[in-house]
Amino acid sequence: MLEFNRKKVGLMPTLTKWNPMDEKTVTAQDVMEGQLSAWERDFITSAILNAPSKPRVALEVGTWLGWGSTLHILRAMEQNQTGHLYGIEAVSSIYTQMVENIRKATPDGAKRFTPVFGFSDQAISQLLSAQPPEFAIDFVFLDGGNNPMEQIIEFRLLAPYIPVGGQLLSHDARRRKGKFLVPYLQSLDNWETGLPDFSEAGLFYARKLRPVPSSASLKAAKRKLIQLRLEPKEAVSAILPSWLCIIILKLLPRRMARSLSDEV
Ligand SMILES: C[S@@+](CC[C@H](N)C(=O)[O-])C[C@H]1O[C@@H](n2cnc3c(N)ncnc32)[C@H](O)[C@@H]1O
Repeated sequence: MLEFNRKKVGLMPTLTKWNPMDEKTVTAQDVMEGQLSAWERDFITSAILNAPSKPRVALEVGTWLGWGSTLHILRAMEQNQTGHLYGIEAVSSIYTQMVENIRKATPDGAKRFTPVFGFSDQAISQLLSAQPPEFAIDFVFLDGGNNPMEQIIEFRLLAPYIPVGGQLLSHDARRRKGKFLVPYLQSLDNWETGLPDFSEAGLFYARKLRPVPSSASLKAAKRKLIQLRLEPKEAVSAILPSWLCIIILKLLPRRMARSLSDEV
């Protein structure tokens, strides 16, 4: 058991004396423009700084404006003096602003950064197809769209490239975004996982233990996924076009709409 903020958190990365609120690491603007809490940024930083072997390649889905996960991954890599981050963002205006923000916030870190414009499924496939056979991704952070199937698709594309000891974190693990990936990965016996209770949105942590899962655990994971996908609200949202889902959500009372779109 390791400790984080004086609580037992199992396999979570240990913290150094690094403090996310140090003036040089997080500015007031960072806090306003990013979408992660200070605790979550601290955790991501710690996972990179304290990895037994320093991550050489990292990939994140969903940079938003860059002040949150992207900036903190880059700063941690800069502190490690090794590592390169691929950051995928699907919205053009956000992507452009993010590239500019990163260049200004961390000119040194920006040299370790390849921004990738596009939707994660296509962007990841294209990126992987351009890499040499030995390409490996040591650190993954998934924080893109709210459709829970996206994190499953991203995981399935990336998992073969994550070496044993590699880490995968995902955000909004307690919300709809993470409702498929979390139980799916928890069922696979070649990953150890944790979901500490410090983050309301839920920051999920997984570390790869063996190259492949046993066939029994893979079957269990697939069964769990099918079961979750067949839940009425998930089945309906998978069938209906997204514009119709949005209209339906707008017509529902606010509380009900929020519980359908946001929560597990
Ligand atoms: C919750 S925000 C990410 C917050 C960011 N990680 C941070 O720490 O501040 C989600 C981002 O993912 C982007 N996004 C949504 N779906 C995506 C997809 N399929 N592929 C890539 N980016 C996506 C959105 O445009 C948005 O900028």
